[in-house]
Amino acid sequence: MPFEPFLMERWQSTWEHHVDVNLSESGVEPLTADALIETDPDLRRALLEQPLHYVQTNGTPALRARIAALYPGATEDHVEVTTGGAEANQVVTWTLIEPGDEVVVMLPNYMQVWGLARAYGADTKGWRLVEDTAAGRWCPDMDALAEVVNERTRIIAICNPNNPTGSCLTADELDAIGVIADRVGAYVLADEIYRGAEISAEEETASMWGRAERVVITSGLSKAYGLPGLRIGWIAGPTDLVARCWERHDYTTIAPSALSDLLAAHALEPTQRARILGRTRAILRENYPVIAEWLTAHRDALTYVPPAAGAMLWLRYNHGGNSSELCERLRTEHGVLLVPGDHYGMDGFLRIGFGSGSEELKDGLSRVAEALRA
Ligand SMILES: Cc1ncc(COP(=O)(O)O)c(C=O)c1O
Repeated sequence: MPFEPFLMERWQSTWEHHVDVNLSESGVEPLTADALIETDPDLRRALLEQPLHYVQTNGTPALRARIAALYPGATEDHVEVTTGGAEANQVVTWTLIEPGDEVVVMLPNYMQVWGLARAYGADTKGWRLVEDTAAGRWCPDMDALAEVVNERTRIIAICNPNNPTGSCLTADELDAIGVIADRVGAYVLADEIYRGAEISAEEETASMWGRAERVVITSGLSKAYGLPGLRIGWIAGPTDLVARCWERHDYTTIAPSALSDLLAAHALEPTQRARILGRTRAILRENYPVIAEWLTAHRDALTYVPPAAGAMLWLRYNHGGNSSELCERLRTEHGVLLVPGDHYGMDGFLRIGFGSGSEELKDGLSRVAEALRA
């Protein structure tokens, strides 16, 4: 099985806890357990009385029901709970891909599905979003997608809202992807982990759910909900596929953590969900103007297309050097961690997170400014 290191995760795993300021994150400042539970005495008791056993291994019925409620027409059998969105992507690709298949991946993208597909013997083909400064977003080119998809295409993998650009596909664009997938019987694997983290829109980004014959959604609580430490993700898809994924799950992590399953069901209770996503949007709406103003002051060096969702900006820099070298200098000389465009196969870009506490964000930005001056 060919193995290519997952460059961005390796970079973050190695350094994120060893820098003064971490601006490599794509989600908002995580909640504490206390802020999640608030003063709910029943939940506190339930948490302390929770047996630390294996829960139902595909997720408790209570949690799967809460997740199913997010997808019209879905039942508990359409849902499998995983350890983070990462395991959801891993189990789905492992289940679907046979050596020699083709997997079409929207680019730029969180490169997990790209790397896994290659490890499972698929040929990966990129489908590039196009930077459209006039439209103010990274746009899909449907003709290009129709051209790259063929009878060998097993999966069209999209990430919506997109990591790293923060751009969102519209409902019509998702429908058009569905038509192209249906033409060849491919699955659309939609990683929607940033859905709910819209910066100015009140409406949640459209979901791929229900828009093609074979749709599988991967998502979780790590980004839009600010709960990465719970390590709760999920797969929502056709019941037969979800059942096959569950069989694979027996070989990976078996079951979600009992405490996390309980807390996740609480986080997805409709009132709590609205509270938590409201907090995320409040952080984004407070921090985005701070970084936008900073970027206006540095527009000679850094340009960008404004993101619609997520806590990250995809910056094009004109300094000319290599992005990995630039990030290494930012880390070693200025104590601040960013993600190099290289990790997305797009040198000349940097990913910067703006979801952290505002003091940390300002500190990080002043360190990047210092580096730009140097
Ligand atoms: C698009 C996308 N999917 C999945 C993940 C992994 O999520 P988790 O931390 O829930 O495993 C990330 C993490 O950055 C991501 O950006």
